[in-house]
Amino acid sequence: MLRLSDIAEWRSYANGVRAKGRTVGLVPTMGALHQGHAALFRAAKDRGDVVVATLFVNPRQFNDAGDLERYPRTPELDRSLALDSGVDCLIEPTLDAMWPAYPAPTPTTVSVGGLSDLYEGAGRPGHFDGVASVVAKLFAITGPARAYFGEKDFQQLAVVRQMVRDLAFDVEVVGCPIVRDHDGLAFSSRNARISKDGRRQALALSEALACVAGHADCASAQRARLTATLREAGVELAYADVVDPTTLVPSRDDETGERRALVAGFVEGVRLLDNGPVRIVGR
Ligand code: PAF
Repeated sequence: MLRLSDIAEWRSYANGVRAKGRTVGLVPTMGALHQGHAALFRAAKDRGDVVVATLFVNPRQFNDAGDLERYPRTPELDRSLALDSGVDCLIEPTLDAMWPAYPAPTPTTVSVGGLSDLYEGAGRPGHFDGVASVVAKLFAITGPARAYFGEKDFQQLAVVRQMVRDLAFDVEVVGCPIVRDHDGLAFSSRNARISKDGRRQALALSEALACVAGHADCASAQRARLTATLREAGVELAYADVVDPTTLVPSRDDETGERRALVAGFVEGVRLLDNGPVRIVGR
């Protein structure tokens, strides 16, 4: 596995891959890699891409300095997981290379209106501007044929897809299914920050989703089910909703079809999110 940090070398590596007639599959990450990331690397490998993974804790997507400081950093483990999962080139850009002006704002921001203000964006103002800006820069440097993102961050995936459509990036965005631990908790870099008791409480997120997936009901009844399960477990609710999977517009009670249930809440002060498919039946 090749390891690079310099932008010029990284760009020239990707150019070389394409010159040989191969395709680049980009997997952007912030490190603290887990089995969810490993599944993205494998998905890229299975599509026949040369797998380029980036490891960069992007400060522009954190609206809370404490959250940025506490974000887990495990570079040695990340390198061995990337190697074991078939990554061909691991890029670890420096902060100076990505955002030379930081902590001063970078003049250019990519902002996906509408979608970015909902749910995660409402609770973390500016978060998706930071995500869209860094992903646009990673695309511009790497020129991937495909980019792989986990469905765990469902709204992020919707924001990136919208950005790709609006700015005509020649990149296929591949959404990969959520990978869950043996107890049902979705793998997340943030899980490392909760205790054993916290973890039991956190299971309410996946349980709430399993509960709505097992019922066909109208949108508001599904919403009420999600909320009740999370509250009963003592999770401090951020949101629980049933939405259109592309626009994230909340579903109405006269709608029928396949939608997405989104849940987020705090356990021991750690923000956790999850989502899953749900069927709604109009009333
Ligand atoms: O999902 C993440 O880890 C980050 O938001 C991403 C896509 C790597 C951008 O920094």
